Amino acid sequence: MSYLQENPSRPVMTISHLQEMRSRGEKITTLTAYDASFAALMDRAGIDVILVGDSLGNVIQGHTSTTPVTIADMVYHVSAVARGRHHAFLLADMPFASYGNPDQALENAAALMRAGAQMVKLEGGRHLANTVKHLVEHGVPVCAHLGLMPQSVHTMGGFKVQGKSPEAAQLAIEDAQILEKAGAQLLVLEAIPSTLGQKITQAISIPTIGIGAGPDCSGQVLVMHDLLGAFPGRAPKFVKNFLATSNSIEEAFKTYIAEVKKGQFPGPEHCFKADA
Ligand code: KIV
Repeated sequence: MSYLQENPSRPVMTISHLQEMRSRGEKITTLTAYDASFAALMDRAGIDVILVGDSLGNVIQGHTSTTPVTIADMVYHVSAVARGRHHAFLLADMPFASYGNPDQALENAAALMRAGAQMVKLEGGRHLANTVKHLVEHGVPVCAHLGLMPQSVHTMGGFKVQGKSPEAAQLAIEDAQILEKAGAQLLVLEAIPSTLGQKITQAISIPTIGIGAGPDCSGQVLVMHDLLGAFPGRAPKFVKNFLATSNSIEEAFKTYIAEVKKGQFPGPEHCFKADA
């Protein structure tokens, strides 16, 4: 991480800043990036968190899922993004099958941290509690990821909204609490009913970052290519193309940040409902 302050009025973001933002009710803005140029542009626009997502398997490499992405791919892209950003918090995905046990997870997380990540993200519920604890005890901050977990698309039977029944919602709330207790300091919630996004956010004290999880999460994340309308095919319901109404990519990033901060994005049209 570069500690050079490009703009001294905006500090290098840390997990403490994100926790303070949650406490004072300021929404945390997050976007994915995979290279130095886009990372620099969104950093200058004022993004709080940059996620080097394994969504790069889809949007960069052209796969139909994230499962082909390797730790070497992630290290390459995290290094590039780390060189481009100055202020944003840098979060990196652990790719498919790179955290099958606590020791494997630590070895692979260490590679991402050495490349410049400030925190690593893992997809999964309570079965990861020991892995999260092991990482945190060894100095690796952890973001958990619940709801739709793209790495499990083959076991989930497709990209489906999760947590719609009262039973599934209860399990997700418990998973969030168990992962927080294990030491997770951030939680991404993907494609769940807005009511569940709100309940999970209220049930834990760490910030939640939603993508299709409603307006009541502590912050929001979008895949950069979706925000720019740059990914062919039908966009998921939670996506908004911010470039369609902007004159430049930087303006699109700024509009996304402003709409999230003001609570205007996501709107009802981007949200999912629970089973009646
Ligand atoms: O890989 C990714 O981009 C993600 C986001 C969808 C949250 O995990």
